[in-house]
Amino acid sequence: MPVYLLFLLPMAFLLQPGTWAGEIIKGKEVKAHSRPYMAYLRIQRGTKMGRCGGFLVAENFVLTAAHCQAGKITVVLGAHNISRQEKSQQVIQVKKAYPHEEYDDVYSDNDIMLLELSTPAKLSKRVKPIALATAGKIVKPGKKCRVAGWGLTIAHNNSSSANTLREVQVKVLKDAECRDLRYNNWTMLCAGKAGKGDGATQGDSGGPLVCRGKAQGIVSWGPIDLPGVYTRLSTFIGWIQETMEGTPFCGPPGLTA
Ligand SMILES: *[C@@H]1O[C@H](CO)[C@@H](O)[C@H](O)[C@H]1NC(C)=O
Ligand SMILES: *[C@@H]1O[C@H](CO)[C@@H](O)[C@H](O)[C@H]1NC(C)=O
Ligand SMILES: *[C@@H]1O[C@H](CO)[C@@H](O)[C@H](O)[C@H]1NC(C)=O
Ligand SMILES: *[C@@H]1O[C@H](CO)[C@@H](O)[C@H](O)[C@H]1NC(C)=O
Repeated sequence: MPVYLLFLLPMAFLLQPGTWAGEIIKGKEVKAHSRPYMAYLRIQRGTKMGRCGGFLVAENFVLTAAHCQAGKITVVLGAHNISRQEKSQQVIQVKKAYPHEEYDDVYSDNDIMLLELSTPAKLSKRVKPIALATAGKIVKPGKKCRVAGWGLTIAHNNSSSANTLREVQVKVLKDAECRDLRYNNWTMLCAGKAGKGDGATQGDSGGPLVCRGKAQGIVSWGPIDLPGVYTRLSTFIGWIQETMEGTPFCGPPGLTA
């Protein structure tokens, strides 16, 4: 059993007893560097290593899930095979982490965190921010989206991690399909199987749910099978802008619980 499992399991259990939370992916390997916003987060706590996904939203900010704040985070941009030291990779330390002030680790509510990079990323074809959802605009159920990650692959049925970036298609589901005590439709988005897939369709925690080129969600929690729960980004645009710029922002209602 690789060390990171010892580290990630407690985090997953915290979210959903008895199941994994958003660290499983099947899907297909993507063309190298075709998702230039993807960030691989190495998380170190003592001698244990964990992992999360994230995505570049500005030269000096990566967005991820608040539950990924479990140790010292190092950001890797421009990666495809994270087991290699690719020339395209930019390894950057985090200057400051901004988990949402109202992140609730029991209900996984407001599961969003901005990471300020110690040095801005050098933007290129292989390292580029992604556009975010429009504030207050609700993604319609049925919309086809994608989620990518270096998460555990079910294909490698022995708990090995994928070393190359993989992606699966999911579609946005009605809130009712994620009916759960903890599901809050203002702050969470429900998405799952698109068409006939086989098995898991969740990326790494913290990775983006991308619909028509825009990030609409952050992989947050859910059972090993479908559907999965994502942080609903359209609710947090104000928080993101405010946190990045330190400027007041008047957001849509329901920004906070
Ligand atoms: C990723 O890199 C490692 C180390 O070089 C290699 O063993 C592995 O096969 C690579 N993975 C893929 C899918 O190419
Ligand atoms: C199990 O994982 C190891 C790497 O940890 C890999 O070399 C091996 O091929 C995998 N076995 C199967 C059956 O997938
Ligand atoms: C994968 O794991 C399941 C459950 O542990 C087992 O039944 C199955 O035989 C495994 N498949 C492979 C290809 O190792
Ligand atoms: C949440 O549900 C309420 C009641 O069904 C609805 O009015 C509201 O628009 C929903 N909010 C979002 C962001 O989907």
